[in-house]
Amino acid sequence: MRGIHKRFPGVHALSDVDLEIAAGEVVAIIGENGAGKSTLMNILGGVHQPNSGTIEISGTATKIRSVSEADAHGIGFVHQELNVLDNLDVGANVFLGREPRRFGLINRRKIAADTTPLLARLGLEIPPETPLSELSIGQQQMIEIAKALSKQARIIIMDEPTSSLTLTETERLLEVINDLREEGISVIYISHRLGEVRQCADRVVVLRDGKNAGELQRGEIEHDAMVSLMVGRELKRSAHERNEQEALTDGLSIINLRTTTYPDCEVNFQVKGGEILGMAGLVGAGRSELAQTVFGVDPAMGGSITLEGLPIQLGSARESIRSGIYLAPEDRKKTGLILEFDISQNISLASLKDHCSRLAIINRSSERNEAQRQVDALKIKTPSTATTAMNLSGGNQQKVVLGKWLSMSPKVIIFDEPTRGIDVGAKAEIYKLMRALADEGVAIWMISSDMEEVLGISDRIVVMHEGRITGELEHVEFSEEAVMHLAVGGRQVNAA
Ligand SMILES: Nc1ncnc2c1ncn2[C@@H]1O[C@H](COP(=O)(O)OP(=O)(O)OP(=O)(O)O)[C@@H](O)[C@H]1O
Ligand SMILES: [Mg+2]
Repeated sequence: MRGIHKRFPGVHALSDVDLEIAAGEVVAIIGENGAGKSTLMNILGGVHQPNSGTIEISGTATKIRSVSEADAHGIGFVHQELNVLDNLDVGANVFLGREPRRFGLINRRKIAADTTPLLARLGLEIPPETPLSELSIGQQQMIEIAKALSKQARIIIMDEPTSSLTLTETERLLEVINDLREEGISVIYISHRLGEVRQCADRVVVLRDGKNAGELQRGEIEHDAMVSLMVGRELKRSAHERNEQEALTDGLSIINLRTTTYPDCEVNFQVKGGEILGMAGLVGAGRSELAQTVFGVDPAMGGSITLEGLPIQLGSARESIRSGIYLAPEDRKKTGLILEFDISQNISLASLKDHCSRLAIINRSSERNEAQRQVDALKIKTPSTATTAMNLSGGNQQKVVLGKWLSMSPKVIIFDEPTRGIDVGAKAEIYKLMRALADEGVAIWMISSDMEEVLGISDRIVVMHEGRITGELEHVEFSEEAVMHLAVGGRQVNAA
């Protein structure tokens, strides 16, 4: 790709960008939220047309006018936002639009037979007839990768493939990437997880503000070198102060709570006011379901919760919000945002009454001011607060979800994978915000599959496995091994 320019209304998303990739090479593209990574890949994948610039494949000038033309050129695309249809089963998703037929009818047996080895290759032990809706986001992501593999792609673009995968799934994916490289397939890998980039990339291409900002070759791929090219300055790694346990308040208590996912398991724990409680576990451990039950969007099968010692009615999100319990959900596209709304409408969504006159007329300028405050605080990259959420980069969408809750007065915030898809600089900002909230006495319950984050940010960690809490770690006991041990269902070994 040479001299690529792409403009959107109010945004020069790509400016004279070059990208080369050899057969069998794994190139990572990194850059801050909104740097233009997905846009560049959308051009290669035929989703967008560039305003100018050229693309050559194997030395031949090529125009990629649509996704199906990209397919025909052997370009497979695993999108940042999931593209799977959850009313179909696994096999139907993998072969969507290319269903093998027999006597004019879709040949389900062949779909199943062809899907099974692909799933095995990705380490997914599920039958091809499983409905997509029964899979976790992480597993659905794997299905997209299976789809690209099934198309015999020569170039596979993976836009943040691991952002919702667990440790084991991520390891498996990195192995798959190695296999692809050996088969001469090129992989373009976009990730904010610099550790993974270091593990798998042959070369790193850095974008900053829509321009090439530099490259790193295999031996030069180090955390600090990547960060300084991405942000254009040195980034201080700040160690945070943890709060003294004595200063903590009662916060949120979860008592014998049972969810619909694991109706036989009773969960008991406490998130104290003033602390950041990290919750670790593998995909399917039931963490998100637990959070949704506490927040009231999923029904509880039994048990109770209290906030500052007072009982809170279960099963009503309205009641939770009124009491100051908020949930920033994992799946921003489905439940975190209204994509058709602009930034200020999304941010004011849960606090509209604060922006209303007594006659219930919305005061748009007060709404906009609050939105602007969050845009500044979270450094959301956008031309204005009137930009539609759909047109923001993935990481910036995530920041809008956070902005919605931060604009209110929380007592408890449940963050489900809060920094998924967020760049290193912005992550540091979000951690600072969480810490500031905790210092003000807010109880922070952070569900995270990012080991670095769980160990680095939490004051205390609880670990879940198949619906049960398998252990609780105080700060002195923190280690990757201890968390993993409990996450796979091991017993707690108390530090003597
Ligand atoms: N369809 C669109 N309409 C308008 N603006 C867009 C559109 N798509 C992207 N943009 C803008 O182009 C810029 C680059 O966005 P892009 O999605 O490529 O960033 P990114 O590097 O992938 O970021 P992230 O790490 O957050 O995913 C952003 O300012 C974004 O808001
Ligand atoms: Mg992106």
